[in-house]
Amino acid sequence: MKSLIAIIVAALPFATSGASVASPVIGGLARPEHVSPGLSGAVLISELGCAACHPTTRAELAAKPGPDLSAVGARAHGAHLRAFIANPTATKPGTTMPDVLGHLPAAERESTADALAHYLATLGGASPTFTRLAPPAIERGRKLYHAVGCVACHSAETPSADSVPLGPVSEKYSVASLAKFLEDPLAVRPGGRMPDAKLDHFEAMDIASYLLRDQATPPPVFRPDPQRAARGKVLFTQHRCDACHTVGGPSPSPTLAALDQVRPERGCLSDQPGAWPQYSLSASQRATVRAALAPPATPWSVAENVELSLTRLNCLACHQRGEIGGVPAHRDAYFTSRDENLGDQGRLPPSLTGVGAKLKRDWLRDVIVNGASARPYLNTRMPKFGAAAAEPLADWIKQLDTLPPAEFTRVGKDDKPHEIGREIAGGKALNCIACHTFRGKSASPIRALDLMTMTERLEENWFHHYLAHPQRFSPLTIMPGFWPDGKSPLPNVLGGDSGMQRDALWQYLARGPEAREPQGLVLEPLVISVPNEAVIIRRSFPGIGKRGLGVGYPGGINLSFDAGQMRLGSLWSGGFIEASSLWRGQGSGQARILGKDTTTFPSGPAFAVLATPETAWPAPDPTPRPSPHSFTGYTLDAQQRPTLRYSVEGFPVEDFFIERRDPAGEVFLERTLRFPATPPAGMHFRVAADKIIEPRGANEFAVGQNLCVRLPATPLVRPAGDLKELLLPVQGELRIEYHPAAKP
Ligand code: HEC
Ligand code: HEC
Ligand code: HEC
Ligand code: HEC
Ligand code: HEC
Repeated sequence: MKSLIAIIVAALPFATSGASVASPVIGGLARPEHVSPGLSGAVLISELGCAACHPTTRAELAAKPGPDLSAVGARAHGAHLRAFIANPTATKPGTTMPDVLGHLPAAERESTADALAHYLATLGGASPTFTRLAPPAIERGRKLYHAVGCVACHSAETPSADSVPLGPVSEKYSVASLAKFLEDPLAVRPGGRMPDAKLDHFEAMDIASYLLRDQATPPPVFRPDPQRAARGKVLFTQHRCDACHTVGGPSPSPTLAALDQVRPERGCLSDQPGAWPQYSLSASQRATVRAALAPPATPWSVAENVELSLTRLNCLACHQRGEIGGVPAHRDAYFTSRDENLGDQGRLPPSLTGVGAKLKRDWLRDVIVNGASARPYLNTRMPKFGAAAAEPLADWIKQLDTLPPAEFTRVGKDDKPHEIGREIAGGKALNCIACHTFRGKSASPIRALDLMTMTERLEENWFHHYLAHPQRFSPLTIMPGFWPDGKSPLPNVLGGDSGMQRDALWQYLARGPEAREPQGLVLEPLVISVPNEAVIIRRSFPGIGKRGLGVGYPGGINLSFDAGQMRLGSLWSGGFIEASSLWRGQGSGQARILGKDTTTFPSGPAFAVLATPETAWPAPDPTPRPSPHSFTGYTLDAQQRPTLRYSVEGFPVEDFFIERRDPAGEVFLERTLRFPATPPAGMHFRVAADKIIEPRGANEFAVGQNLCVRLPATPLVRPAGDLKELLLPVQGELRIEYHPAAKP
């Protein structure tokens, strides 16, 4: 079955106009009114990889590398690979991969594609496994996909023709293999055209579920045949697949006619089939490429190189710079904010006009290469483009954008500038904290970017120019001009000298961690409270790392779960978590556990097969590759309580906690572990490992100082180093009660 996306893309006017097959779609060229012909020619030549076979010394024509195929067999289904290789454009309309086998007679073409698919299917280990999709994950993924920035380049649910095609992803990936790709797309596609949206594991799983939402049945079984694979390996170099793709080894150097020497009416540009790749270019694309082959009279300027990079990497889908780029009207609705108070500035990616004069070089580079961020209220994310694609760009932008030096007198150390600056920023003077947060804390509902990020990111010179006339930089900003016509509203501070006042602010903010809070700041930790429904936070937790998941249950009992090792991380009662470092860092930072009486469970797997009751419990395995465990997501009940679903060494588990009250009214958690398949012989569940494990009654045990567990059967209690272990054999369903502090 053809996927919905493929049908939509094939039906688009853009994809079918002119030629009988869809011509390649390049995101950054989708709005040609902005781009000069010389520039679009260079973009086409680099995106189509011409220089992978035809050498050139012109850096601006360097080929976009094709995907790294060294593990493609674990990523994509074999049957899809075969179809795609046999006819890339028909399988994924708009793709930039040319048809390399187009000149072969039909039968030979099929058998060549078949052998190549068998070869590629052997690369990377086991082929992707089909898993059933969870409707709540699809729904979460739908929201994320439309919020974090994917639709800046790809089609939203309402398709638009200027979008980078996704192709029949349902025929290509499994949820797990697509999630793995989305978590680190630069590992597979180092060219950075598909940037890294900094998705965590759960977000990637959700978006993958959404993109594969029409995947109803497992794809046809495809078992690589060694003989055909061996032939495919030879064909892979014969047909020059290795010019664009690596399978681990080094790529060959291009040996054909150089790009500035080819005859532009022939070969790949001829519209005739032959022993060369076929690109299905539209007539205008072909004309643009031809015109760009001859070297220009003068080498490319820095300004042209910047525009080329911004077009190639499609930065312009999100950013405006001067007269070019910016979010087009039909995508505007997908750029949203977590803070309605900030208007468009809280919603749209910042303008890149003059950004080289604004940002310090290291920060600018960090933004482009690693997606460094300072505005937690934007739902759209600045993605990570990686060093390979983005490297010279920061330097070019710095070189290009300049501002004259601002004139001001520096405040001498003896006058304690940082104290004056602190006073100016505070509630009794210019009140910067009325709109800006300070180390994540705020004085009002408006939370524009944190004052503590300013001196780290901004050029001092720009800070002066900007504060003097914010509207000159962004005409509609709500950031006030405090010094109209150069006059200060604070005549008694530093003699009313505007420049000195701005310098005092700068010197104060530049103290970083040592800068004391301005007056008037409300101390407001971000406590996540649990109402009458469970609350789930999927972030980093102490002792777990970034695959943590926290659940707060009504009644004041909470847990953290490690979705890397599939184990309970900790359990505590009282308050849930404080999350200001999550909020500020847009994904970095850890949740701080509030509450009390925390019990921490041992790291390492919670399930293991023991040959004998004496066999030692397996040691924690630092994220093995490939991991024997996988987290397949969760579903929620009516009170938002999750049923966690995962598999341990291929053995599926459903794990559900519910809050209950004992006869004394104390709240406890009841956990039900269900096993849809028959457990292997010797499978055990480790309830706890602690110094203190003492019997308290029939199948009841105190664990450490703060916890009592009640078990469904007689457990195995055994020493393990200086700890004791509490193990339960896994046969049928397990129901376990966790009573904090109080005895059951
Ligand atoms: C996978 C390798 C490969 C890639 C990539 C490739 N070509 Fe070619 N090209 C060939 C081969 C093979 C020929 C035919 C042999 C020859 O002429 O050297 C050829 C021939 C040509 C010719 C005719 C040369 C002549 O003077 O007869 C032109 C023009 C050409 N290619 C342009 C391009 C352009 C433009 C691109 C990118 C859109 C491109 N090629 C990408 C392999 C490639
Ligand atoms: C700046 C533009 C841009 C953004 C933003 C972007 N992508 Fe992409 N994406 C691309 C381009 C371009 C390609 C094709 C890359 C290539 O040719 O190697 C691609 C490829 C892909 C593919 C591979 C399709 C295949 O055939 O295997 C998937 C899946 C994908 N993107 C999903 C996403 C998701 C999900 C998001 C948001 C988290 C996203 N993209 C954000 C530009 C973008
Ligand atoms: C001119 C460069 C070029 C040549 C030559 C080329 N490819 Fe590709 N290939 C690409 C690009 C670019 C993509 C990504 C296309 C997309 O996402 O739409 C791609 C995608 C693929 C994929 C999907 C990879 C993934 O991770 O999703 C496979 C498989 C593949 N090519 C195999 C081949 C084989 C086999 C050959 C030789 C018959 C070949 N390619 C020749 C550029 C090339
Ligand atoms: C999917 C949309 C998207 C794409 C594509 C994108 N950006 Fe961004 N960019 C953002 C967002 C959102 C921010 C604000 C991030 C923050 O500060 O939290 C941002 C911030 C920036 C900043 C910081 C500006 C400032 O004043 O603080 C720079 C510089 C930047 N991007 C450059 C680029 C470049 C260069 C590219 C292409 C290589 C690019 N961006 C592609 C969304 C995008
Ligand atoms: C009425 C609200 C308000 C007040 C008061 C205010 N700002 Fe702003 N400021 C903003 C907004 C909104 C922005 C734009 C944020 C954005 O682009 O994401 C901004 C931007 C800035 C920027 C540019 C940051 C960047 O990287 O783009 C600086 C520097 C700045 N403010 C400093 C100050 C200082 C210092 C004070 C006190 C003297 C102050 N602001 C008072 C609302 C305010």
